[in-house]
Amino acid sequence: MKIRGDLWRTIWRSADGLAVEVIDQTCLPHTFAVRRLQTLADAAYAIKAMQVRGAPLIGAAAAYGMVLGLRERSDDAGLEEAAQALMATRPTAVNLRWAVQRMLQVLQPLPAAARIETAWREAASICDEDVALNQAIGGHGLALLSELYLKTGAPLNVLTHCNAGWLATVDWGTALAPIYRAFDAGIPLHVWVDETRPRNQGASLTAWELGQHGVPHTVIADNAGGHLMQHGEVDMVIVGADRVTAVGDVCNKIGTYLKALAAFDNRVPFYAAVPSPTIDWGIIDGVREIPIEERDANEVAWVQGRMENGDACRVNVLPAGSAAANPAFDVTPARLVTGIITERGIAAPHALRTMFPD
Ligand code: MRU
Repeated sequence: MKIRGDLWRTIWRSADGLAVEVIDQTCLPHTFAVRRLQTLADAAYAIKAMQVRGAPLIGAAAAYGMVLGLRERSDDAGLEEAAQALMATRPTAVNLRWAVQRMLQVLQPLPAAARIETAWREAASICDEDVALNQAIGGHGLALLSELYLKTGAPLNVLTHCNAGWLATVDWGTALAPIYRAFDAGIPLHVWVDETRPRNQGASLTAWELGQHGVPHTVIADNAGGHLMQHGEVDMVIVGADRVTAVGDVCNKIGTYLKALAAFDNRVPFYAAVPSPTIDWGIIDGVREIPIEERDANEVAWVQGRMENGDACRVNVLPAGSAAANPAFDVTPARLVTGIITERGIAAPHALRTMFPD
């Protein structure tokens, strides 16, 4: 996608071939910074601290993390160590496990000396495939939005939660791919962007990338969505996912479930845009089986932003002595989900398996 007219991905091999570079998302929207990751520890830190985040990008970063680990130690023990270190960073997005396992499968049979170049190639393939999957999701979502636009003839209002745009993937995004495709096709639309406390991925990242692309959008407080739906101001909700079960339960950023409940009550269609590496075929009951990341309570207490004079600052919004808790994801049961937009098409949650018989 474009930043000030130039094409970017979120992650790439450095020009000197020795490291990986990423857009540091902890600095957005006020500062655009690129970080160089040179070691396994750099990659693990980037994922944990959310310099890179979003399920597909976490997977891509983990794949490159395996390469950086191999540069330090390419024998079997080194591979295992890298896999363990990366798997321990964030527990919910299944793309991380998927990417690490794929790297292990390709690398383990090779002699240690032959591993590094193959690892670079495999990580690059994971990235290229992610772009292709998201482009395909965009195409299927475009058909959905076109159909709705033809029916209503009015500009579409789409609500999204968190950031499932190109910043959350290698390129295009999942939930935002249909929006970019529809906007580029001339369908008039406007996006309601949930701010997404505590880390504000909506306000800081989704609003920023929609703005870069010129897509009309409005940031709303997380609690505003239900009210807007009651008043007919939302035509569709599209979110991303960190893990989807075989029967279509959708785990995504905390607060998604409340949006799905409000959408259900107001007959607003609720879609999750999901590339297949985000589906965990081994899990049926999302609420009980998906591990939910508990992040540092300081993320709830402290908000970061910019002062009027442009200086960065962090402010504490809690009274001294108040405890805070920070579950980072929730699970929307399949019964509240209208459809899942995958690279193969749009499936009702219970029909996901039929769409992926393999
Ligand atoms: O904690 P984050 O910012 O990594 O959470 C991201 C989300 O919840 C996204 O909606 C999800 O990963 C889908 S990304 C295409």
